[in-house]
Amino acid sequence: MCGIFGVINGEPAAPKLLEGLRSLEYRGYDSAGIAMVDPRGSAPMTVVKAIGGVDRLADALRGRPADAVLGIAHTRWATHGQPSVDNAHPHVHAGIAVVHNGIIENHAALRASLGAAGHSFATDTDTEVIPHLIAVHRAEGRDAVGAIAGAMQELSGSYAIAVVFDDDPDALVAARKGSPLVVGCARDGAYLSSDAAALAPYCDKVLALDDGEIAVLRRDGVELRRPEGKIRIDESRWAPARASTGAATRGAFAHFMLKEIDEQPDRFADTITANLKAEIPNALVEARRITFVACGSSAYAASVASAWLEDVAGIPCKVEIASEFRMRRRIPGEAHPVVLISQSGETADTLAALRLAKEQGLPTVALVNVAASQMAREADTVFETRAGKEVSVAATKSFTAQLAALAVLCLRIAVLRGSIDETQARLMLADLRALPQHIATVVAGAGKIAQAAERFEGARSALYLGRGSSAAVACEGALKLKEISYVHAEGYAAGELKHGPLALVDTAMPVVVLGASGPVLEKTASAIAEVRARGGRVLHVTDADGAAATPDVPHVVLPRMTGPAAAIAVPVLECVALQILAYHVAVARGINVDRPRNLAKSVTVE
Ligand code: F6R
Repeated sequence: MCGIFGVINGEPAAPKLLEGLRSLEYRGYDSAGIAMVDPRGSAPMTVVKAIGGVDRLADALRGRPADAVLGIAHTRWATHGQPSVDNAHPHVHAGIAVVHNGIIENHAALRASLGAAGHSFATDTDTEVIPHLIAVHRAEGRDAVGAIAGAMQELSGSYAIAVVFDDDPDALVAARKGSPLVVGCARDGAYLSSDAAALAPYCDKVLALDDGEIAVLRRDGVELRRPEGKIRIDESRWAPARASTGAATRGAFAHFMLKEIDEQPDRFADTITANLKAEIPNALVEARRITFVACGSSAYAASVASAWLEDVAGIPCKVEIASEFRMRRRIPGEAHPVVLISQSGETADTLAALRLAKEQGLPTVALVNVAASQMAREADTVFETRAGKEVSVAATKSFTAQLAALAVLCLRIAVLRGSIDETQARLMLADLRALPQHIATVVAGAGKIAQAAERFEGARSALYLGRGSSAAVACEGALKLKEISYVHAEGYAAGELKHGPLALVDTAMPVVVLGASGPVLEKTASAIAEVRARGGRVLHVTDADGAAATPDVPHVVLPRMTGPAAAIAVPVLECVALQILAYHVAVARGINVDRPRNLAKSVTVE
């Protein structure tokens, strides 16, 4: 998390630094800061920080010297130390300013040894040791790159850093290990950022630093170094700077989340098309089992899809949470593909899981929404979702796009394995292709779902229940509710209700039940009866004739799915309804749904 931006060119740096930070606020928005170097100013370095978003930083910058042509900037998601001006980056010591993304794991030991040598610290952050270490190595007579290389040898953990020195107005220096960092060249200078998309408006070409590399940016270009010396840049490492698809404006929508919910029919359809022709590796076709690895919503998408793969393609699947999977020392059993799912393609735990799978010699497949991401660069095979840029912190269109890609891949793998024939696959695909119009119907019915959201008035906790792949949708719906409305919620397989959660039900508790038509509808009706008998506020989400199946209960009515791919279509529609429900509960509570407290869009720390 945290966003880094830096620029050196012939024009005042401040406006570009602020603009760059704005495009990075999805990575964190609890505080922001900037450092600029200008030898002509009254002081060679100007450092300004503010709590809150970039607008607050822009206010704090007003009236400050702003002619510097070189600077670094940072938007923070707090890990060590609460959000405050002191803890905001850049951290400065001895004329050296540093912005950092990642976590320095041995910061306590470094603080202790630096402290014993007479250094004192002004913040609670792990980052503050970095300018101190660089200063120590500079005092040994090393140049900027040598001092940063010396510091890197002492740091453990993951980091991307950008550094400016008050005695060098002609260069900014950056380095990485573990956390993403991209440099870019433009006609008027050089840029850097933690996200390639942030460089697209300015740069012609961009290059992602490899672990251990140090980049020196000057007005006339970028030079790469390693501690042992200069690196000749292989020209093929430069890529054209590409803006991510999907404009990051919210138009007439009240929130990005609402816009992103609304875009789902198109993004779902694009993702189906994109994956119809993608090459499927033999490792997947011949797999005797598949392990999915992901975090958060992406892990719930994996759970939904694993039920499809088992049913349709007959492949046993296991879903593992990336932060657990990565801690394994070995993965027992025969070699089998590991499928990593990630919207950002940068999530630290999922990336570490990918690296572990590779180390163990397992074939790796990444499904990502950001084609230039680290996971896309490292996995053996890459599939893409076409959700476009997702600004709101809560995953919506990226989640349904993951389901779209996984559904198509599931059908194609099933045909290649001979689990279903071409005719069955064609019929199911036709069903999938019709799904965007049904998603649009659910979105168009948002008004009714908003009314249903009133059942959450005053609620402090909620339950979501479903069966089969809808149990995973229930967990995703509960996650959506907690992250944007701060109402505690849990998702359960509906059959588990009487094995514990029923004890929670009282007249204040909303219970959302996913119960589509089909063999489990009757069982769902029993769960609903059990909740109602305890006074719980049930909401039944169904494509069935709800009034007949569960009379006297409010319903969210979904389009009726009867085709051969109904088992794939229903969870997608349920999921869209639950997104809309969570949105309206959050709005009724006056919460900034696009930027819920304590969260960030891209979780690049462990
Ligand atoms: C929830 C949400 C998160 C992400 C998780 C993984 O709405 O967005 O739970 O799904 O942080 O992120 P990616 O998919 O980028 O690896």
